[in-house]
Amino acid sequence: MYLCMKKIENRYMINKIRKILDEIENLKANNSDELEALRIQYLSKKGEISSLMDDFRSVAAEQKREIGQKLNELKTKAQAKINELKERFEMQNASDNSIDLTRTAYPYRVGTRHPLSIVRKEICSIFNRLGFNIAEGPEIEDDWHVFSSLNFAADHPARDMQDTFFLQTGTDILLRTHTSSVQTRVMEKTQPPIRIICPGRVYRNEAISYRAHCFFHQVEGLYIDKNVSFADLKQVLMLFAKEMFGNDTKIRLRPSFFPFTEPSAEMDISCNLCGGKGCAFCKHTGWVEILGCGMVDPNVLENCGIDSIIYSGYALGMGIERITNLKYQVKDLRLFSENDVRFLRQFESAI
Ligand code: DAH
Repeated sequence: MYLCMKKIENRYMINKIRKILDEIENLKANNSDELEALRIQYLSKKGEISSLMDDFRSVAAEQKREIGQKLNELKTKAQAKINELKERFEMQNASDNSIDLTRTAYPYRVGTRHPLSIVRKEICSIFNRLGFNIAEGPEIEDDWHVFSSLNFAADHPARDMQDTFFLQTGTDILLRTHTSSVQTRVMEKTQPPIRIICPGRVYRNEAISYRAHCFFHQVEGLYIDKNVSFADLKQVLMLFAKEMFGNDTKIRLRPSFFPFTEPSAEMDISCNLCGGKGCAFCKHTGWVEILGCGMVDPNVLENCGIDSIIYSGYALGMGIERITNLKYQVKDLRLFSENDVRFLRQFESAI
């Protein structure tokens, strides 16, 4: 009798497990309250599975293994089903109302243009609008393009190893010290009219400090045609200064000397910090120097195969670092090549 009861009890357990398994597979809940009710019905301490666990204590020892396994399986399946329904609810809720698709995205920090690139682009775009085309030349150059063609005397100090990086001793291969070399390269290949603007990197054998570097950047301008006069140069310089530094900017030209221009001049603009009144930045003069310029020396035209009787022209050259310093008051030249993001990020809002 005792044995018979046990058998029934075991079959009862197995049937019950099967029945609950069936139910669980088809569980459905329409809202979270229903889901919670199901969880309580099956998985809470007083739920159906827990009460089966209680019954399990009276299962015959030889059946414990089989029934124990089935019970465990039931419990995991029930838990998995409840979790699955819960996830489905959460996803539905999310797509129904909890995600606000109109919200702005998290701020995404994009890279910034380097201040020298910003200023280079601005200079070039001003000259582009005046009809100048971009021309570029190599940074590794030879004596002819950097010095000789540009009328530098044989004993000019710039040719000295102290000032210029020569790449191979005993040869005339060197790193260009100015972008004026691009003038020669273009004039050798093209007959006038020539109207070019040449941005690029240049190298000089200087000790690095806050005000000097062994490499920096220049923009060279050149215009060769019939009847080009100093007045044309002045007009273009004035337009450039006003575009770059604002409409109230004044210019002043001081006589100077460059081997490749005759006459030569240096151009100052009215100090863009104090408006010309005088401040520490302009050393209380009201003026700051920004570029060199002049009428192309006839010798240079002839060196490049251009007839200096028919043609004349002007040239100008400026340092991009210098213009950037004036625009943004960067006091230490070394900042431009250190790539410290704290410095670079300050130019995020510039073009
Ligand atoms: N090449 C000169 C320099 O590196 C700058 C310069 C001055 C360029 C006068 C010119 C010019 O074209 O006319 O200092």
